[in-house]
Amino acid sequence: MRLEKYISDSGIASRRAVKRAIHEGHVTVNGHQITIPGHPIDPETDDIEYQGNKVEPLTEFIYLMLNKPPGYLTTRHDERGRPIVMDLLTDLPQSIYPVGRLDFETEGLLLFTNDGNFAYKMMHPSHEIEKAYLVWVNGIPSKRALERLRNGIAISGGTTAPAKIKQLDAKTTSQLSTNRNVRNTAKIAKYRVIIHEGKKRQVRLMFKAVGYRVIRLKRVRVGSLRLGKLPQGQYRYLTPAEVEKLHT
Ligand code: URA
Repeated sequence: MRLEKYISDSGIASRRAVKRAIHEGHVTVNGHQITIPGHPIDPETDDIEYQGNKVEPLTEFIYLMLNKPPGYLTTRHDERGRPIVMDLLTDLPQSIYPVGRLDFETEGLLLFTNDGNFAYKMMHPSHEIEKAYLVWVNGIPSKRALERLRNGIAISGGTTAPAKIKQLDAKTTSQLSTNRNVRNTAKIAKYRVIIHEGKKRQVRLMFKAVGYRVIRLKRVRVGSLRLGKLPQGQYRYLTPAEVEKLHT
């Protein structure tokens, strides 16, 4: 690649300004001053300085969403070799990281990027980005319990902000026990819960605080972005329009 193209592609200055700077002796390649534009360089191995500052290639921002299956850690490395969400992302042009986290057993929409400003905005509580979850609960919480969750409840990370909670289903399931001809019944309720905070294990702890155990948890929306029909374990890049909408 030509020296002036590499420098101007990095976003420092226009091609013309870079050529002038080269003529004026403000550019070095591996410590040697280069004064003639057109000098060939290898972006992988050459060390290029423009007016005394190292030129870094412009990184393209990447945004994608994964439908995280349960049983994966939201981390970039795990010393104990457990399954991690990065195992599910292949053929990435650049290194990226998860935006926030979902618990090991939580499934659903998980964003990834290499854009620090975007990640900060999505995670910072002051931006109050809504997150919607489908929540399956062992038992059927009373109206009063749900009101306590809606109003905000004390959990280990502090008191939660008001939440939106809608009951989607409540049923009694009946199963034949494995070793005897005994029928076990279980009550399971399903809710849509919308919160805009990200306290650790927040949804699980909210239901625990009113005496119920979350048996399945799936995030289906972050801000304007919906998980849709993305199959479990698969990922896709966000469209520019989706990124733009999340930014605003
Ligand atoms: N709330 C939880 O309890 N767990 C998650 O992974 C996300 C929200």
